[in-house]
Amino acid sequence: MHLVRAHVLVCGGTNCTSSGSQQVREAFKRELEKNKLEQEVKLVETDCHEFCETGPLVIVYPEGTFYVRVTPEDVPEIVSEHLINGRVVKRLLYKAPVDETRIPTYKQLDFYKKQCRVALRNCGSIDPEKIQEYIARGGYESLEKAIFEMTPEQVIEEVKRSGLRGRGGGGFPTGLKWEFCRRSPGDLKYLICNADEGDPGAFMDRSVLEGDPHSLIEGMAIAAYAIGCREGYIYCRAEYPLAIKRLKIAIAQAEELGLLGENILGTDFTFNLHIKEGAGAFVCGEETALMASIEGKRGMPRVRPPFPAQRGLFNKPSNINNVETYANVPVIIARGADWFAAMGTEKSKGTKVFALTGKVNNTGLVEVPMGITLREIIFEIGGGIVGGKKYKGVQIGGPSGGCIPAELMDTPVDYESLIQAGAMMGSGGLVVMDETTCMVDLARFFLNFTQAESCGKCTPCREGTKRMLEILTRICNGEGVPEDIETLERLGRVIKSTALCGLGNTAPNPVLSTLRYFRHEYEAHIFDKRCPAHVCTALLVFSIDEEKCIGCGRCLRACPVGAISGAKKEPHKIDPEKCIKCGTCFEKCNQGAVLRL
Ligand SMILES: Cc1cc2nc3c(=O)[nH]c(=O)nc-3n(C[C@H](O)[C@H](O)[C@H](O)COP(=O)(O)O)c2cc1C
Ligand code: SF4
Ligand code: SF4
Ligand code: SF4
Ligand code: FES
Repeated sequence: MHLVRAHVLVCGGTNCTSSGSQQVREAFKRELEKNKLEQEVKLVETDCHEFCETGPLVIVYPEGTFYVRVTPEDVPEIVSEHLINGRVVKRLLYKAPVDETRIPTYKQLDFYKKQCRVALRNCGSIDPEKIQEYIARGGYESLEKAIFEMTPEQVIEEVKRSGLRGRGGGGFPTGLKWEFCRRSPGDLKYLICNADEGDPGAFMDRSVLEGDPHSLIEGMAIAAYAIGCREGYIYCRAEYPLAIKRLKIAIAQAEELGLLGENILGTDFTFNLHIKEGAGAFVCGEETALMASIEGKRGMPRVRPPFPAQRGLFNKPSNINNVETYANVPVIIARGADWFAAMGTEKSKGTKVFALTGKVNNTGLVEVPMGITLREIIFEIGGGIVGGKKYKGVQIGGPSGGCIPAELMDTPVDYESLIQAGAMMGSGGLVVMDETTCMVDLARFFLNFTQAESCGKCTPCREGTKRMLEILTRICNGEGVPEDIETLERLGRVIKSTALCGLGNTAPNPVLSTLRYFRHEYEAHIFDKRCPAHVCTALLVFSIDEEKCIGCGRCLRACPVGAISGAKKEPHKIDPEKCIKCGTCFEKCNQGAVLRL
């Protein structure tokens, strides 16, 4: 037997793979063989560590040395320096954004220090294609406990006491939802997992599906036992091929071990799980549209009631939860409701996974206890704003969420506080903005998305969002009129209260929240014909300050349309008729002579 003295973990998650981690792994394989180290150093491919921006990631244990942006060319040095001579390759360590110190290990990174991993507990630590690795970490013990030691009612009671609320957006209490469905009359009931994850930029569910599919399957099996469902569906978008592949492997493995399918663990409990691939329409994430899509119909929402617990899939009582919601369940059963409820705030228990993106130094997935402040997430975990720029605010809750300004950065992240601030938890998108973001343009960007995704079934959403988008586009083009602000507010309120489904009910949020906190930016666009963040091209004016210009000609040579003229060492000029407002001269001039208004 050989003694393994070191483990080299190469991240094989989707993002690291796209930045070349497979080539890095191949390079390690070759280099370890070349140095005859393959017996004493074990090479392991893991799933996502949620710090994708710094990938491809390599972690060397037992120390936990954390190497970032590793290329195949770096591998011989890691092998010879670190694995043979015991010296850390400092240049490949993560550099802290503010003081630029090199951080040697995984555990010392600010990005991970404040995190608390419950839903993501196994992601990046196990091989998701081996059920044995999940079982070795206590996997399927909760299912066994539920079936042999608890009645279905006791399972529901435990989930209710834990305070778990839906992580898919609405935040409805999970145990209560299960109870409604259990009490609904009918022999055939369906259990559904919403793995549609349609928010642009969100990848928390994909991370669980790819990195720890058994936690979802176990959570669903426990729910099926509690509610009394024999059949289950995971509705996953077809754009997630790796997630679907891993789910298929995991379902087959669980069936083989008697943990899914007929007579689970030798009892009379049967639960069959199927995968349904969705075509990727955002509206198909809405529960009634999703069920229509599983039935083979066009994915359009319908009026509720009846709620899915009464009449859902194929008109049978159905329970639908999000991936992260189910992934929390095995831990609640294993460690108890009190343990789970000890994390978070009075009404929002446990943790939440966020996709932290935008103008922040550390981007990636973060799982934090509810109640943590936005300041802690953005400045401690996220390492502050890129380039030391001024923090302006955060768009939270995906395309239908809202913008919370810098003044409210001590807002606790919980369901109620976010709603009060005009945003929402949503599925967990968190886009950080700095002084260079135009809030009118941002609102237009998100509305453009929801408008395009509107299914067109009801008038307020179909027509109303279109009108709002037209107004926003006009404002960004410098053609806004004074009544626009009031019209946007009125339309927004009407659409929110009259649209048929959650898409329309929330689509105006980015506009209404930016009008609430950044009204002055709308006014600057409409009344002063000025974009304070210098984003809206139509409103920009470039000119040259004659006093500062030294006539070096850098701008003249760089201008793509020949709009700049002037003799050498003489002040230059911009012809506004020719200028296409590309901003190149502004960037090129090192005298600060180009003015951008
Ligand atoms: C337009 C729209 C899109 C949605 N997309 C998703 C989604 O991608 N994933 C999800 O879990 N829930 C989504 N939801 C929420 C679901 O309708 C539903 O509330 C949720 O799956 C319930 O699970 P939970 O209680 O565990 O949150 C969406 C809702 C709307 C209105
Ligand atoms: S609110 Fe929008 S997405 Fe929802 S049913 Fe109406 S038109 Fe369709
Ligand atoms: S780059 Fe600046 S200093 Fe040089 S000619 Fe242009 S405006 Fe003048
Ligand atoms: S903004 Fe672009 S097009 Fe206009 S003058 Fe400068 S470089 Fe030329
Ligand atoms: S894919 Fe490697 S850290 Fe996310």
